[in-house]
Amino acid sequence: MCGIVGYIGNKKASPILINGLLRLEYRGYDSAGIATVEEEKISVMKNKGRVNNLNDLEGINNLKGTIGIAHTRWATHGKPSKENSHPHMDNSNSFAVVHNGIIENYQELRKKLTDKGYEFLSETDTEVIPNLIHYYYKKENDVLKAISRACKKLKGSYAIEVLSKYEPDKMIIARKDSPLVVGKGNGENYIASDIPAILSYTKDFYFLDDNEIVELTRDSITFYNQELEQIRKRVKVIDWGAAAAEKDGYDDFMLKEIHEQPNAIRETIGAKLDNGKIELEDLNFSKEYLESLNKIYIVACGTAMHAGLVAKTIIEKLCKIPTEVDIASEFRYREPLIDEKTLAIYISQSGETADTIAALKLAKSKGAKTIAISNVIGSSITREADYSIYTHAGPEIAVASTKAYTSQVVLLSVLAIYFAEVLESSEDKLINKLKKAILELPAQVEEILKDVSSIKRFAKKIYKETDMFFLGRGTDYAVALEGSLKLKEISYIHSESYAAGELKHGPIALIENGITVVSIITNKDLMDKSLSNIQEVITRGAKIMMVTNQEMDNKNFDCIINIPKTNPLISPILSVVPLQVLAYYISKEKGLDVDKPRNLAKSVTVE
Ligand code: F6R
Repeated sequence: MCGIVGYIGNKKASPILINGLLRLEYRGYDSAGIATVEEEKISVMKNKGRVNNLNDLEGINNLKGTIGIAHTRWATHGKPSKENSHPHMDNSNSFAVVHNGIIENYQELRKKLTDKGYEFLSETDTEVIPNLIHYYYKKENDVLKAISRACKKLKGSYAIEVLSKYEPDKMIIARKDSPLVVGKGNGENYIASDIPAILSYTKDFYFLDDNEIVELTRDSITFYNQELEQIRKRVKVIDWGAAAAEKDGYDDFMLKEIHEQPNAIRETIGAKLDNGKIELEDLNFSKEYLESLNKIYIVACGTAMHAGLVAKTIIEKLCKIPTEVDIASEFRYREPLIDEKTLAIYISQSGETADTIAALKLAKSKGAKTIAISNVIGSSITREADYSIYTHAGPEIAVASTKAYTSQVVLLSVLAIYFAEVLESSEDKLINKLKKAILELPAQVEEILKDVSSIKRFAKKIYKETDMFFLGRGTDYAVALEGSLKLKEISYIHSESYAAGELKHGPIALIENGITVVSIITNKDLMDKSLSNIQEVITRGAKIMMVTNQEMDNKNFDCIINIPKTNPLISPILSVVPLQVLAYYISKEKGLDVDKPRNLAKSVTVE
């Protein structure tokens, strides 16, 4: 997904901009570009391909400007090409703009501007922005006013940075439904769509809210609302070390993040389970309110949605409240039944996923209370929700989510216990056992990760395959979905996940000699039935990787991964780990880019 970096200070801007873009590479992109302004002249350098290629562009080293904007583009309107890359200029070369998001009414604006004599050089929606700014500048003779008027005409989502030759010592930025942060320095200021891009320069951040405009000089940061009334914002100190965003000696971010899971889980639990009943910072639900609920919705995308599927079982078991899990992009359009008796929980690692944010706004507009679960403090979703609670997984850089998933399931389990304690809906004995089991998780994940050699060997054996199956029952099925998604994402192997009992209703027709089936069995009560399902595929020639915490008489599997025992409600936090490791080593065997799989982006800020 597109990334934005900006700098205004006394140092040469271009190396800082390129360095920032390199740190955003994990988001996925197809082209990159920068613009700097010097002596009332804006210079733009951009091209299709990697950020590092910018260093080869003729003249890049001659850019002496100390103010600049930069962008990595992930094509939405128009193919990846130099012309379509950002920054884009207006026809008079007076304004340069980079943009994240989608301008939904760009065709209408483009037509209006074309009628007024403007010409367009790219296929992008973005190019209307600098020209619209120019159009209003001619009327207002004031850069800030021109940008504010242009923003009011834009429909859709945007985070923009604007350079102007008329005010070469200023930069103006604005946002709506697309993230943007300002990093405050000393005699210099930084801008980015994502914190890691500029974390090595500052720890003091301002988070922009929708419809805000910021005017930056080297020594000042002035915030405005869309009417250009000055507003005050609080600085937030981000305490992630810059090293937290680096690889720490691991080959890839994904492997590092898999190994960070014990700590991420520990940090997410924090002191929540230390004494007595759970208290969650921001939440203060009464028993009456929770009793009044007739439904909980959990809404998210991809891996975060899979975390929600695990939570459904836990919430229903402990709180006895019907809980539905939905894909955010579906939820919005199916007219879900929501009222003030609905509680809606939204899970998003990045906190910037457009579909999830839109689904949250919908529930809010219908009177439901909303809770955001995110890994990024101050992210868009946490500012939209009535309540926010955080996973403390640290920055997740690899596109394929690992530590965010396990931290989300942990936090959702804690949330379910919190509800159950307020509701008094479960026996203390069950609650205490579950709390104890949650506290044991970090050490148990460490144990699983201590020796992954048999998973590595199995990956070596099967990496050339083209189809695989993941089977499980109950919460093991939720893990099967996640294991299958991890494999698809980073190894490009087609895989399907099924509730084990469903196989005989159709998909078993696909099982043939030699096919690999990954089976997850962590619930004693479901073991016999699950083993019968596995026997059915073994009979048809399948190779089996078994992930289990049960003793099994039949050990006739091609690979068996024994994981520690825990409460079946939270076993996904352990059983997913071997599946993450399997996907990782298959991808490595295939020589693929584990951290940046093709066609994927870390933060999906378009719907
Ligand atoms: C898969 C993955 C995605 C994300 C999804 C939601 O490994 O990372 O499926 O889980 O795009 O992202 P967030 O949690 O940032 O809303």
